Amino acid sequence: MSHKIHELVDKRWSPRAFSNKEIEPEKVQSLFEAASFAASCFNEQPWRFIYAVKEYPERYEQLLSCLVEFNKMWVKTAPMIILTLASKKFAQNQKENWHARHDLGLAIGNMSAQATGMGLYLHQMAGFHVEKAREMFEIPDQFDVVTMIAVGYLGDPAQLPDNIREMESGKRLRRPLNTILFDGDWEEMK
Ligand SMILES: Cc1cc2nc3c(=O)[nH]c(=O)nc-3n(C[C@H](O)[C@H](O)[C@H](O)COP(=O)(O)O)c2cc1C
Repeated sequence: MSHKIHELVDKRWSPRAFSNKEIEPEKVQSLFEAASFAASCFNEQPWRFIYAVKEYPERYEQLLSCLVEFNKMWVKTAPMIILTLASKKFAQNQKENWHARHDLGLAIGNMSAQATGMGLYLHQMAGFHVEKAREMFEIPDQFDVVTMIAVGYLGDPAQLPDNIREMESGKRLRRPLNTILFDGDWEEMK
């Protein structure tokens, strides 16, 4: 890293080894409260969340069952799973909300910062069966089913299968700033 960044941003990463320590109910609520304070286009707040903590095994197992096999292998130790949704239309006029997924991402960014501040970690996932989740939770067409998230405290990487454990300590690669930033024509990016 070549420039200083805030501790809440720096400390965030996506672990796969979670401790089975329960997340305090107050902290669960704080995660969603932080998400709800994100900016959104016309203050639409298009995000919705379906979640389960392990203390509610039926819903937890339902959410776990939506994941692809690779993700199931490590998510099963996480004490909480979230499914994220975004409304495709503005409630007020039913016009398409092009920025709904953008706004959901902002909400998850807030949730990540809140989690980091409370010693918790999120691991977001695209690897799940969208249609299975839609049917299981009877999600209306109006909502995009976007990601799933494992949440919890850090666990011991020794609990992971060999191939996944290696990923836990891998170098965090980032594109250099001079390859993502430009102040002129698109041509200058090349
Ligand atoms: C939208 C999204 C989908 C992701 N899907 C998966 C996934 O299905 N399985 C997985 O193990 N990690 C998944 N990740 C985690 C990324 O691989 C991870 O964020 C990236 O490698 C950067 O690492 P870091 O979050 O530790 O900085 C996903 C992350 C995002 C934001």
